[in-house]
Amino acid sequence: MTKTEVIVIGAGAAGLFCATEAGKRGRKVIVFDHAKRLGGKILMSGGGRCNFTNTYTSHENFLSQNPHFCKSALSQYTQWDFISLVNEYGIKHHEKTLGQLFCDDSAKDIVDLLLAECKKANVDIKNRTEIIGIEYVDNRYVVNTSQGVFSSESLVIATGGLSMPKLGATPFGYRVAEQFGLPIIPTKAALVPFTLQEHDKAVIGELSGISVDANASCNNTNFNESILFTHRGLSGPAVLQISSFWDPGQEVEFDLFPNADLLQDLLEQQQSNPEIQLSTALGKHYSKRFVQAAIPYFELDNKPLKQYNAKQLQSAADAFTQWRIKPNGTEGYRTAEVTLGGVDTDYVSSKNMQVKDQEGLFFIGEVLDVTGWLGGYNFQWAWSSGWAAGQVA
Ligand code: FDA
Repeated sequence: MTKTEVIVIGAGAAGLFCATEAGKRGRKVIVFDHAKRLGGKILMSGGGRCNFTNTYTSHENFLSQNPHFCKSALSQYTQWDFISLVNEYGIKHHEKTLGQLFCDDSAKDIVDLLLAECKKANVDIKNRTEIIGIEYVDNRYVVNTSQGVFSSESLVIATGGLSMPKLGATPFGYRVAEQFGLPIIPTKAALVPFTLQEHDKAVIGELSGISVDANASCNNTNFNESILFTHRGLSGPAVLQISSFWDPGQEVEFDLFPNADLLQDLLEQQQSNPEIQLSTALGKHYSKRFVQAAIPYFELDNKPLKQYNAKQLQSAADAFTQWRIKPNGTEGYRTAEVTLGGVDTDYVSSKNMQVKDQEGLFFIGEVLDVTGWLGGYNFQWAWSSGWAAGQVA
């Protein structure tokens, strides 16, 4: 049996970051991962440019049964700390929108940063390693792997959630939690595109590739970003964001003219250009293809503006600004960016991620019931929770 001080299972964002912090304290750290390629999710993230944090990060950007849980770690290691580290490595980056920081060149810069930090801290990373079982014997964690049996004083579980199984996601972390008596808050795919009912899909499929600004709302929450029509349904930032708050069977409302008053605009166009058709008036704001599909979908007449009375124009505007649709479901874990739910945080110290009644066992990152909005918050949670555990593991 190989003895070490800290074993981290999962070489993703949280696991690698935690390993470097523990290693920097002089702890002997081994990280296991079953994946062939390290940092697979990071490499795919942010369209290949990794949205590695958000300058506006606060606990309000996270969903959890205990909304206060994430506060301590986020304040111990902040977005500014990670930005300093990125700057130390000379990684060029930019703010895309709403405080979201992306690499200028490639997400590989972030993976390289993590691997360089691990190297500096003498962390031993063993990928392509299957975990066969874990036991707790004489105050040590005995981890049976495809590369032999290892034991440690501390065991950090950083195996993430269920999203994107093709990138190596498994429910492993939840099974370890259950083994040690920790409950799991039911999981659900989040930051995920909606699929549509057949009658909506027939029309919306035609709009594939079109993106429009929208305010999406559901369950008293709303996001003003953009939506993207796809051949499978609805995607784009506003849809991904609201999917985390949506429950099956519910309607989502979209205001497809979120930044101005559409009725006012149509009334003004009616005054200035009474002969133009509704489609032409709407074409000032939307693509022709979108307008051509939307008018029949919303069951509107396409007539010269002068033929509409105020009530009819109001109905036309309402169709675009109060579009209510009941998704059929979501695309599920196959394409979801994150997993809602996870290891119940009531059983874990918010200060250092250690299980309250099980010394030396830690859960960090997405495996916990802490889920960020879209926009770099999930990586910030990985850094902050990994850092917090790395100070004591
Ligand atoms: P993560 O999933 O990163 O790592 C878990 C590791 O554990 C993996 O390496 C896996 O192979 C390993 N593992 C799992 N089961 C195992 C087992 N049984 N045995 C051994 N190893 C095992 N967030 C963000 O903030 N900005 C962004 O731009 C994006 N973009 C993005 C794009 C896409 C396509 C996805 C799928 C996700 C994002 N995210 C994101 C979310 C972000 O990637 C995610 O929240 C973090 O990677 C979570 O970090 P963790 O380290 O907790 O898990």
